[in-house]
Amino acid sequence: MRVIVVENKREMGRRAADLVVAEMARHHNPVLGLATGSTPLPLYEDLIRRHRDDGLDFSTCITFNLDEYVGLEGDHPQSYRHFMNEHLFDHVNVNKRNTHVPSGNTMDLDRIEAICEEYEQRIDDVGGIDLQVLGIGGNGHIGFNEPGSSLGSLTRVKTLTTKTRQDNARFFDSFDEVPTYAITMGIGTILNARRVLLLASGENKADAVAAALEGPVTASCPASTLQLHRYATFVIDSAAAGRLQLEGYEH
Ligand code: F6R
Repeated sequence: MRVIVVENKREMGRRAADLVVAEMARHHNPVLGLATGSTPLPLYEDLIRRHRDDGLDFSTCITFNLDEYVGLEGDHPQSYRHFMNEHLFDHVNVNKRNTHVPSGNTMDLDRIEAICEEYEQRIDDVGGIDLQVLGIGGNGHIGFNEPGSSLGSLTRVKTLTTKTRQDNARFFDSFDEVPTYAITMGIGTILNARRVLLLASGENKADAVAAALEGPVTASCPASTLQLHRYATFVIDSAAAGRLQLEGYEH
């Protein structure tokens, strides 16, 4: 695995943007897997700046987001579709028809199952994901694959842990408003991406990052499964790297 330790989250965003731009240049129709949450915001800000100042072109990009809450309409301010429009898609020249976020606007379980299958099919139809961007949960989750998730899992509905709902309650008016279920790409979906780029910043991620990089491969820390990936890169700030024991990481 390639591990790049940078000084702060701004630098994390810049280095991550370098890698995303390099990937975009490799393909006529780059297929990017994207994440929501606070961590990728510096990356998205950097990509928007490059679009504005340097003409970085998103017109041929196809995107697939990792996950979406179940029970929120796409225009709900806390839906991940809304998040992506607000923090990236509305500011670059991507064709919104080529941006995919699982649709979570139904509570009908049969319909949700069909949505998950269609999502996997769409990823296959465009030839798979070239580069998947990830954050990491304080408990080591990737996407909404909480500890204990099956290592071969594909897109499906998952129950969120209380810890994840508490972590995400900051974006809602109250804890009770945080949805209980989400649709998420599986660990298998993520491992199928040709390259994976995990970002982490802040001391509250240090334990999860250490477990992911230096612990055993285990479903108890879903991010540790990236050790099995041939092209996984971590770009992390020094606070998130604070509990790593091994030497020799790139700076
Ligand atoms: C977001 C996602 C989650 C987040 C993780 C970290 O699409 O799938 O796994 O990446 O919960 O969230 P932040 O970045 O807010 O700390």
